[in-house]
Amino acid sequence: MSRWAKDFAGVTYDVLFQRWICRKVPAMRNIGDEDIVGLNVVVTGCTSGIGKAAAYEFARRDCNLFLACRNSSKGEKLRGELLEMCRKEGGSKKRNNNIRIMILDLSSLDSVVCFAKEFNSMKVPLDVLVNNAGVFAMGAPRTMCLGKYELHLLTNFLSNGLLTLLLLPSLLRAAGSKGGKSKVIMVNSKLHQMCTGFKFGDPNFDKGYHSKKAYAQSKLAQFLFTNALRTKLQSIEGAKGSAASRVQLMTLHPGNVTTDVVRTLPNIVQKAYNTIMPLFLLSPEEGARSTLFAATASTANDDSKEVFNYFNSNCEPTMPSVEARDPAEAQKVWEWTLGEVDPYLSKEAKELVLAMNV
Ligand SMILES: NC(=O)c1ccc[n+]([C@@H]2O[C@H](COP(=O)([O-])OP(=O)(O)OC[C@H]3O[C@@H](n4cnc5c(N)ncnc54)[C@H](OP(=O)(O)O)[C@@H]3O)[C@@H](O)[C@H]2O)c1
Repeated sequence: MSRWAKDFAGVTYDVLFQRWICRKVPAMRNIGDEDIVGLNVVVTGCTSGIGKAAAYEFARRDCNLFLACRNSSKGEKLRGELLEMCRKEGGSKKRNNNIRIMILDLSSLDSVVCFAKEFNSMKVPLDVLVNNAGVFAMGAPRTMCLGKYELHLLTNFLSNGLLTLLLLPSLLRAAGSKGGKSKVIMVNSKLHQMCTGFKFGDPNFDKGYHSKKAYAQSKLAQFLFTNALRTKLQSIEGAKGSAASRVQLMTLHPGNVTTDVVRTLPNIVQKAYNTIMPLFLLSPEEGARSTLFAATASTANDDSKEVFNYFNSNCEPTMPSVEARDPAEAQKVWEWTLGEVDPYLSKEAKELVLAMNV
C-alpha cells in the first residue's frame, strides 16, 4: 500500500472509530493524579473548541488561569462563564477567581512579543503553557500574513515556537519552584503525518498551495521544533538538573473533535458536520482530556526516544511519523526558525538560545 493510501486509511479509521479508540479514557474530572491548584496556566486558543474545554477544567481545578486570546470580547465572555461555573461549583473547596485575559494574536509576531513581555514582567512562574490555538482554513484560498508568512505556518508553528522561546524564563522560574518542573503542551495533530518534509525552499507554498498541505506542514514543523528544543534544553544545567528535565515538552493529538475548525467551509457543510459528526467524533470536552492528561498525569512525561513524548487522543504514548522523528530535520527546522524569529527574541531568550546552541 502506498504511503498516501495508508495515511488516508488511517485517518478514515480514526474518524469512524474515534469514540471506540477513546473508550477507556476517564471522564475529564478524573484525568490525572497531580494536584494543580494554584498553578499558573496559560492556554492559547481558549475561546473555542478544545482550548475552551481545557480552560473550563483548569478553572475548575483552581489554577491561576491566563486566557490568551486575540479577541477581548470573546475573552471577557469566557471569563464571565468560567467565574460563574466556579461560583456554582463552589462547595467546600476554595474557588479561585484568578482568571485573567491577555491579548495574543498568533498571526502577528509583534503581538507574541507583547504577550510574552507582559507575562514575563509579572515575574511569576509559568507552570503550564498550552500551545493550543490553531487554524485549519479548509477549502479557503491561501492567506499571507505580515506580507511574509502563510497563515498556517505562522499561526500553528512559528508564533507558538516564538512564544515558547520568549516564555522560557518564566517556564524555568516555575521549574525552580514547587514540584520543580513546568510543562509545555503542544496541541498537534495526527495530520502531521500527511507531510513528508518541511519545504525549506518554499515554506509558504508559493507553488501548489492546499490548506491540508499547509496545515500538515505546520504541525510537522511544530513537532520537529519541539523535539529540537527538548534536546537543546539538555545543555542548560541548573542546580536541579538539566532544563530538559525541568521543562517538560509534550506533543499530543487531541483526536477528531467537533469544534469550530470547520468555520471556513460552506454553511451547508458546517450544518451537516455539526449534525452528523458528533455521532462519530469527540466533543470538545472529550478532546481536551489529552491536554489535561499532559498537564496533570505524573506518567504523561515519557521522554524516551521511542515515543518522542507524543501521545494520542486515548492518552497513550504513540509514534509520530518517521519524518517527525528525524533529528537532522529537527535541527534544520530549529535553525530555520531561529533565522526567522531572531529579531523578535528578547535579550534573556537570546542568551538562553545561545546557551543551548553551544
Ligand atoms: N478539532 C479537531 O478535530 C482537531 C484535530 C487535531 C488537532 N486539532 C488542533 O487542536 C487545536 C484546537 O483546535 P479546535 O479544533 O479547538 O479549533 P477551534 O474551535 O477553531 O479553536 C481554535 C482556537 O484558536 C484560536 N485562534 C485561531 N487563530 C488565532 C490567532 N491568530 N491568534 C490567537 N488565537 C487564534 C481561536 O480563536 P477565535 O475564537 O478568536 O477564533 C480559537 O480559540 C488546534 O491546534 C488544532 O490544530 C484539532
